[in-house]
Amino acid sequence: MTAKIEIIGPQKINGAVHISGAKNAALPLLAASLLSNDSLLLKNIPPLVDVRTMLSLLEELGVSFHIISDSVVSQTISLKTDSVNNFTAPYEIVKKMRASILILGPLLSKFGVCTVSLPGGCAIGVRPIDLHLKGMEALGAKIELKDGYVHATAPNGLRGAEIDFPIVTVTGTENILMAAVLASGTTVLKNAAREPEVVDLANCLNKMGADISGHGTDTIIVNGVANLHHAEHSVVPDRIEAGTYAIAAGITGGAVDLLGGNLRELLPSFIEKMEQTGLIFSDIDNGLRVQSSGNIYPIDISTEPYPGFPTDLQAQTMAMLCLADGISNICENIWENRFMHVAELLRMGADIEIHNAHAKVSGVKKLTGAQVMATDLRASFSLVLAALAANGKTVIDRVYHLDRGYSCVKEKLAGCGVVINRL
Ligand code: EPZ
Repeated sequence: MTAKIEIIGPQKINGAVHISGAKNAALPLLAASLLSNDSLLLKNIPPLVDVRTMLSLLEELGVSFHIISDSVVSQTISLKTDSVNNFTAPYEIVKKMRASILILGPLLSKFGVCTVSLPGGCAIGVRPIDLHLKGMEALGAKIELKDGYVHATAPNGLRGAEIDFPIVTVTGTENILMAAVLASGTTVLKNAAREPEVVDLANCLNKMGADISGHGTDTIIVNGVANLHHAEHSVVPDRIEAGTYAIAAGITGGAVDLLGGNLRELLPSFIEKMEQTGLIFSDIDNGLRVQSSGNIYPIDISTEPYPGFPTDLQAQTMAMLCLADGISNICENIWENRFMHVAELLRMGADIEIHNAHAKVSGVKKLTGAQVMATDLRASFSLVLAALAANGKTVIDRVYHLDRGYSCVKEKLAGCGVVINRL
């Protein structure tokens, strides 16, 4: 039997939520520990299933780690990589978490060898890794695909090159950035991802002794160094978690204080769109207050690489727009199959039509509780949000997706007067 969540709606969110460190920053940062000759101390790591999966992969490679402190919202973890003796990410782990590919750059750069299972497709799209592999080849790696695995070698080490990405790729940028850190000479990444998680990785690598500049722009320059040393780093707050709880205020007509630092800076397009839909944002100590105006106005959104509207908030935004006063249009430009939540929202009384990458969302007066199924991580929370606003009981099946990327959802919502039950 899979894990389920039962929610009786409607409920209103009212209170404060501590935003954890970003999953999508923590995963590359953990992988970056492989590059160092010394220990790496990471603070504000979110306690998530995906983080545990990355830790078990690193452990399999020979990394030793210990959890120095552990709380509901964050962990401090020290990693040491002086006994790495295995260079393979097996299918069993990669199929659970595609971000396992992030060990490719560090292992190839530091040890000249890495074997990683090809990830295969997933619920939101085909998700190829060709740009990761082309980038490694440009740095001088030899890549062979055999038996469902990528076999990468660089017996003479990697050397700097200019890499111009044809499309923006977040983990592709991160992987090649990590590979370039110990390569000889200078690497220039053009059309690089500008996501705050990429910037966080570059900042941490610089603390470890790397020579990276331009991160946060579309051109990143890496001057290779011989080795990296001990550093301490605190993971950037999770902008997607923050945005998700902001939408909870909007869809339930409530208010929430998002605590975790300068969140406004991390969510420029999202906040602009949410203000158009009727949410009110104000700066508070250590975060942002988000209040519903009592109205949900329709908006048009188009997902884009950062600083555009994040695809990882598309499903949650759609749930709210189901109750808007009019027609909204959503264009999903990043993933070819990221509307799986639509069929579930329809079961709750939503009115949505899909044409290829476009969804036309006609606002309805109310949603009603139903049995629904979570299809991916962000879609799972979109169903939680819809269920909080709906009349009656909703049971969400397959919520294991949720635990991959949102820490302590039940506890965080309970702190804001909202009850969800795990079945
Ligand atoms: C990262 O995935 C995130 N994951 C995703 O978050 C997020 O949705 C995505 O970036 C976009 O913001 C992590 O950071 C661990 P991409 P990533 O490479 O890096 C195509 C979540 O819910 N592409 O930026 O895998 C690709 O198919 C997850 O937390 C290639 O064609 O995404 C897509 O259309 C889901 N070839 C586009 O680029 C490649 O080699 C952007 O993908 C790589 C990507």
